[in-house]
Amino acid sequence: MSHSELVVCLKLLLVLHLVSQSGALGRQQWPVPYRRFDHRPAVDSYCEALYPFCPTGDPNGRIPLMRDSDVISIYRLQTPVWEFKYGDLLGKLNIMHDAVGFSSSETGANYTMEWYELFQLGNCTFPHLRAEMKAPFWCNQGAACFFEGIDDLHWSQNGTLEKIGVISGSQFNDLAQWVQDDNKTGIYYETWTVLSDPGPNATVWFESYDCSQFVHRTYRKLKELGAKLSSRSQTNYTKIYLYSGEPTYLGNDSDIFGQPALKNLAVDIRKFYHNFRPHQSFAELAISLLEAFTDVVLDKSFYLYYNFEYWHLPMKPPYMQITYEEVPLP
Ligand SMILES: *[C@@H]1O[C@H](CO)[C@@H](O)[C@H](O)[C@H]1NC(C)=O
Ligand SMILES: *[C@@H]1O[C@H](CO)[C@@H](O)[C@H](O)[C@H]1NC(C)=O
Ligand SMILES: *[C@@H]1O[C@H](CO)[C@@H](O)[C@H](O)[C@H]1NC(C)=O
Ligand SMILES: *[C@@H]1O[C@H](CO)[C@@H](O)[C@H](O)[C@H]1NC(C)=O
Ligand SMILES: *[C@@H]1O[C@H](CO)[C@@H](O)[C@H](O)[C@H]1NC(C)=O
Ligand SMILES: *[C@@H]1O[C@H](CO)[C@@H](O)[C@H](O)[C@H]1NC(C)=O
Ligand SMILES: *[C@@H]1O[C@H](CO)[C@@H](O)[C@H](O)[C@H]1NC(C)=O
Repeated sequence: MSHSELVVCLKLLLVLHLVSQSGALGRQQWPVPYRRFDHRPAVDSYCEALYPFCPTGDPNGRIPLMRDSDVISIYRLQTPVWEFKYGDLLGKLNIMHDAVGFSSSETGANYTMEWYELFQLGNCTFPHLRAEMKAPFWCNQGAACFFEGIDDLHWSQNGTLEKIGVISGSQFNDLAQWVQDDNKTGIYYETWTVLSDPGPNATVWFESYDCSQFVHRTYRKLKELGAKLSSRSQTNYTKIYLYSGEPTYLGNDSDIFGQPALKNLAVDIRKFYHNFRPHQSFAELAISLLEAFTDVVLDKSFYLYYNFEYWHLPMKPPYMQITYEEVPLP
């Protein structure tokens, strides 16, 4: 077989593979639902946290029980991700971290609840290419952290600390149960929201799963439990968008990296991620994204990892945007 015949043959195999995948899935649903798991798997020891996850939280994620009659205030917490080196640029980008605060009127104790990456954002956004492994290796778990105390200065000085409602102790206890379930079933972080275009009627191909999405889920749950939430100011959040035409499903690790027939695709995916080293912090990531995106722009191609599976995104202008936009309280 000549080289070009071989290429055609491999492409045909890939197409057949994709057709059989889409046949099995039926009509694709957009956005692709974020997959829930029945438990959280142990973390691979290759993944090392730069900062320990949730150092002052209960190691088993327990949340104290409130008395049913207690009155619990709810706070909206937001702070800029501030780094000396990139201060100016990050200020312009409005990269924020979000959390929810609670305080008990009976005990006076207060609490912070947030959701974030176990191994920092870079490791959730880009994988490690390990010489001994064919498939890129991801340290992409994220989880909820609940701990006693609200650091007023941290949130209020350059960000937001605002009371947005009250609930009873019994409603709080229901919320606590929900957080623990959510935390066991939603196990990995997803940085990107992928849209068909920047306009108001865009199709959402993929939703992010990050700290602000956790805050929105919490607010929706609070509303469902009967809370009335209101804010005096505009409630804006950081979003990191990719823009692409209709994505194509490629497969999981064993589909792509375990089959000689898809070797070209496997090589291409590794090559793509070689451009992006998992960076240390949100700040570094933002900077490197804005720089490294020239590669994506030239290639018009992005391999997205979602639900532990790969998708191909045919990228289109404006390719990537970091916005700070309003998401009203429910
Ligand atoms: C990302 O993961 C690598 C590999 O486990 C680790 O060495 C590195 O410290 C992690 N990055 C951060 C910022 O934790
Ligand atoms: C969420 O899961 C993480 C990882 O297992 C754990 O450390 C944390 O305590 C849990 N948080 C809650 C609120 O259940
Ligand atoms: C939380 O508790 C600390 C310690 O008592 C207090 O300094 C702080 O003002 C409280 N913050 C809120 C928002 O209740
Ligand atoms: C608030 O921002 C200033 C710079 O604009 C910085 O020096 C200060 O440390 C920040 N405060 C907090 C609590 O993050
Ligand atoms: C978005 O959709 C609405 C309702 O279908 C339509 O009225 C509007 O013109 C559309 N906007 C754009 C920019 O396409
Ligand atoms: C990968 O997907 C195939 C179906 O295409 C499935 O049989 C296999 O169990 C999946 N592997 C993993 C590790 O999820
Ligand atoms: C908040 O979002 C709204 C609409 O999404 C936008 O018009 C406004 O400029 C944003 N505020 C800031 C401070 O960026």
